[in-house]
Amino acid sequence: MNIVHCMGEWQAVRGSLSGRVGFVPTMGALHEGHLSLIRASVDNNDVTVLSIYVNATQFNDSADLAKYPSTLEADLAAAKAAGVDWVLLPDYSQIYADGYRYQLNEDSFSRQLCGTDRPGHFTGVLTVVMKLLNLVRPNRAYFGLKDFQQFTLIKDMCHTFFMPVEIVGCEIVRETDGLAMSSRNRLLTDKGRQLAGSFNRLLADAASDEHARQMLEAAGMQVAYVETVGMRRCGAVVVGEGDKAVRLIDNVPVDAAEDSLPLRDIA
Ligand code: PAF
Repeated sequence: MNIVHCMGEWQAVRGSLSGRVGFVPTMGALHEGHLSLIRASVDNNDVTVLSIYVNATQFNDSADLAKYPSTLEADLAAAKAAGVDWVLLPDYSQIYADGYRYQLNEDSFSRQLCGTDRPGHFTGVLTVVMKLLNLVRPNRAYFGLKDFQQFTLIKDMCHTFFMPVEIVGCEIVRETDGLAMSSRNRLLTDKGRQLAGSFNRLLADAASDEHARQMLEAAGMQVAYVETVGMRRCGAVVVGEGDKAVRLIDNVPVDAAEDSLPLRDIA
């Protein structure tokens, strides 16, 4: 496995690569969810590229960025074992040589759901993903469906900008109690972890979005939103308080009849 810090050097390498390239962009703190994306790429492409870059521009809260977990050594060992060929480890000055003067804005769906309480989040995500896709020029790029809104916006962005890449959504990987795997789960206290284990079940069992909100609040979670969109009931909650507060997202399939916010067909 090759590790590249300098994106100029990487661009020269990329020019010499042949065959189908699969790409898994991450912010590190790899877990089984990320490894499932890597395995899907390794199985379906000739070369797999992984990026590990904690993208400051998608954090609307600097405290959230400061406590984002970092486990680089373990990440590199896991990536190697999973069959990654190239790891990109750029820094801010390389990704944002423009000082973030250029930004990729979507002004509709990105303002809903997570965009409501995380202003600017999806502008940061779309901008960095566009830059990473331009650097890697993959045939396929892999994203987890836990971040359903992110996946939808990235797929739509690539379609909108005629980008020659297939955006592949991979199923959510869950702990045995149903909690969706997330780098943020490491930040949960024991009590928070126990509570978070009921998030998925309450989202799935509720008769309506409002019912889900009530059940999540009654269980002791702060609810940012519960909304059905694209035939998925999406939710965001905060578990714990003060500097122990952790924001979690998840989504579950629901009947078409409940879809309150149909997306345009971007497939
Ligand atoms: O899902 C993530 O980890 C990040 O949002 C991504 C896609 C790597 C962009 O920073």
